[in-house]
Amino acid sequence: MKNSKTPGILIIDFGSQYSRLIARRVRELDTYCEITGTEFKEENNDSLDIKGIILSGGPSSVYDNDSPKIPSWIMEYGVPVLGICYGMQAMIQGLGGEVQKSTKREYGTAKISLKKNHPIFKGIDYESEVWMSHSDKVQKLSKGFESIAESENTSNAVVAKGNNFIGMQFHPEVTHTKEGSKFLKNFIVEICKCSRAWTPDKFVEKAIAEVKDKVGNDKVICALSGGVDSSVVAMLINKAIEGNLTCIFVDNGLLRKNEPERIRAIFEKKLGDNFSFIDASSEFVESLKGVKDPEEKRKIIGGKFIEVFEKAADSIGADFLAQGTLYSDVVESKSSDMKSSDRIKSHHNVGGLPEKMKLKLVEPLRFMFKDEARMAGTEMGLEKDLINRQPFPGPGLAIRIIGEVTKKKLEILKNVDWIVINEVKNNGYYEKLWQTFAVLTNSRTVGVMGDKRTYSYVVALRFVESIDAMTASVPEIPWEILKKISTRIVNEVHEVNRVVYDITSKPPGTIEWE
Ligand code: XMP
Repeated sequence: MKNSKTPGILIIDFGSQYSRLIARRVRELDTYCEITGTEFKEENNDSLDIKGIILSGGPSSVYDNDSPKIPSWIMEYGVPVLGICYGMQAMIQGLGGEVQKSTKREYGTAKISLKKNHPIFKGIDYESEVWMSHSDKVQKLSKGFESIAESENTSNAVVAKGNNFIGMQFHPEVTHTKEGSKFLKNFIVEICKCSRAWTPDKFVEKAIAEVKDKVGNDKVICALSGGVDSSVVAMLINKAIEGNLTCIFVDNGLLRKNEPERIRAIFEKKLGDNFSFIDASSEFVESLKGVKDPEEKRKIIGGKFIEVFEKAADSIGADFLAQGTLYSDVVESKSSDMKSSDRIKSHHNVGGLPEKMKLKLVEPLRFMFKDEARMAGTEMGLEKDLINRQPFPGPGLAIRIIGEVTKKKLEILKNVDWIVINEVKNNGYYEKLWQTFAVLTNSRTVGVMGDKRTYSYVVALRFVESIDAMTASVPEIPWEILKKISTRIVNEVHEVNRVVYDITSKPPGTIEWE
């Protein structure tokens, strides 16, 4: 079955830091969208039925020599176009209007006032607070355009040529623009007449159709970790091809207490014979003997995983490897500023496997954001606590044990982690925070318990708030909760006599300690 195109909005990215946010906002309005650069070619588009186009903002001035231009096909395509900030300026200039060059930047909130009724203002107050971030502004309108709203700084805060071309000097995608979502909704629904039909059943349907289309009767293997992404991937592929899927779960001995058993119980039920459980815990722990260096640990764990997975996969003879690549990863890998994003830690996922095993990739989450992947999981009946799990690193507890990893230390950290997670859940913080975990430091300190001197480990609690793990802040957890966690740890885990709370944000710290 050939996958059909999904109606939605095409976003042309002119390099704004907010481009991804526009996509998020459009998707929140139950509307499918894709982000692309000016190089977009309709003949390569087999997934989006374009109902409207949004031109993003960007750091350039239309007067820069190398400023990105609006491709001519956009002006002639015949669907409504919304230009935001630079997108508006480039559109007006491209259509024969004039943009005033300025070195002075207008940055922050501003008030706009409506001058002339237009569907883009439906349900929006006559005066509205918006977020501006620009230098140049539109001076003279192109033929057929009129000014719809003004601000103190410009008489052309919103301009339009009927419903065909609309321009906004401000950013509707940022939350500081009070009615931002309404502006976008008006563009999508009132102007583009795009029905808001991008709902979880549709994500699932689209993903299944794509998998069927790509894989046909070939065999797929999937490394199932029990995290949200790989669980949703496994369920989607299972629905698409059933008999030709094998999901391999490797117990590396570095997982949380009871975790392997729990995942096994869930997925044996859901995937039946397509689920394969490999207990490699002793092998992994053995391979870490004497290793103290964090990068070395990661390399060993990554290498071991490939070795174990490859052995299991060899007997199956698969053609495809399933990966949980999300839309945010796809957009990021296309974006030019990736060049500067240095790797701080070598993250081990299933990188390296496809080339090594000569496998093709199938990535059913390629067009979903993380929250959409979660919704797809719920739609397919995955348990709530599996869907709402906090991220857990591939190298597992090994990078939360400072220094050498031993069986004994793993047992200590598993017991500590159990208490932390239980208390965090009981107090309603599990889903509010990005990650809440404990680190077993390599330090021992003197303490006193009963009348006895103790000399035991220090445990650090690491709780962070984050949106994408790129940056993180430390929440001010109520003292009572921290005290309860600390008391329980030192009372119940005898090898620990001191608990500290890590208050370092990222940057300069990273989330994990190793
Ligand atoms: P850092 O410590 O770099 O972590 O601030 C950022 C996020 O990534 C997770 N993390 C990993 N995830 N494999 C993974 O799958 C890894 O090797 C790995 N290292 C860190 C970490 O838990 C946090 O959410």
